[in-house]
Amino acid sequence: MQTLKEDSFEIRKQDHIRYALSEDSQSLVHEDWERIFLIPEALPEINFEEVELGVNSLGREWKTPFFVSSMTGGHSESFKINSILAEACEAKEWLLGVGSQRREIDDLQASQEWYQLRKKYPKVLLASNIGLSQLIQAPLEKIQKLVEHTEAKALFVHTNPLQECLQMEGTPHFKGGFKALESIVKKMEVPIVIKEVGSGISTTTIQRLSNIGISAVDVSGRGGTHWGRVEGLRSPQKSLKAQAAVTFKDWGLSTPKALYLWAQEARLFENIHSSSQNVSNIEVWASGGVRNGLQAAKSLALGAQRVGLARPFLEAALVGPEAVMELIDLLEYELKISLFCLGIKKISEMKQRKVWLWEKV
Ligand SMILES: Cc1cc2nc3c(=O)[nH]c(=O)nc-3n(C[C@H](O)[C@H](O)[C@H](O)COP(=O)(O)O)c2cc1C
Repeated sequence: MQTLKEDSFEIRKQDHIRYALSEDSQSLVHEDWERIFLIPEALPEINFEEVELGVNSLGREWKTPFFVSSMTGGHSESFKINSILAEACEAKEWLLGVGSQRREIDDLQASQEWYQLRKKYPKVLLASNIGLSQLIQAPLEKIQKLVEHTEAKALFVHTNPLQECLQMEGTPHFKGGFKALESIVKKMEVPIVIKEVGSGISTTTIQRLSNIGISAVDVSGRGGTHWGRVEGLRSPQKSLKAQAAVTFKDWGLSTPKALYLWAQEARLFENIHSSSQNVSNIEVWASGGVRNGLQAAKSLALGAQRVGLARPFLEAALVGPEAVMELIDLLEYELKISLFCLGIKKISEMKQRKVWLWEKV
């Protein structure tokens, strides 16, 4: 028999899926993507088949910069959704972020889902996931176990202050977060990636995380699924949380703006013709409102190392495996078209040549 606690976990996870699929949960910012203008190359001097999507990230080579951003786990629908995503990600060698593993910290039984997934898809490249407010509390060995359960290539730590404030069951407790990260980064065997959940991460915070050896920051900015909105939709009408969620419905730094500000701060494109180094080696990843391959190209042009999507893959997985494969194929095709029309054969060339302007000409 399920306990009350398990019931409310199940309901919360189902709610998240339901409300993330509603249009009201999306905080769209088309205008910021349009501010990035990619400069076409009318004489590309390459053939389309030569365009490659491979990238170096987290100290190894990957076939593609794309990843499916962390979503779900630990409830009755999650194995089916994650299986569909894992099958496609294994075939296409995409990194797949699993949903928050919070439940496994206290309930080892919950890790069964990942053992089964691993058995079905032995080669899928997975990333573990835990919230910063849980990381602060949990002993290191328990966090290490989460990575073991999934045989993950990286650990995503999500930071979500607005969501924790507005969630009915939220734990807005982040005191000691930076220290906890400082400590864990030295002890974990896999790279640590810090991510937001749709409100963005500022340049100052990226720089601070770079100073303590965090491998990558996924800005996961505003522009797509907005977790203030999702929690507001879940809260009883007219409740304090529901009302505040309306006020904060567009809170956050958009993904294109976060990337642009970081490119300026880290002087990513100032020294491309000289031998001097950029100010930081941390990888910056883009997610949050990325909806097509052209936006992915814009993100990479601005210096992002990788590009992730969440909600579009949830929608596709609910339709079925073919829909997920079609989405992957479309995104990769659109990214290749962008690279070809910029005269770029390899994504790494975007670090050597500035191919964008901020603001449309
Ligand atoms: C249904 C759903 C569940 C999510 N659960 C998690 C989670 O457990 N951990 C996490 O770090 N992010 C989670 N996210 C946030 C996404 O990883 C991503 O940061 C955010 O949705 C913005 O991307 P999008 O606009 O492409 O959806 C979830 C997103 C969705 C749609």
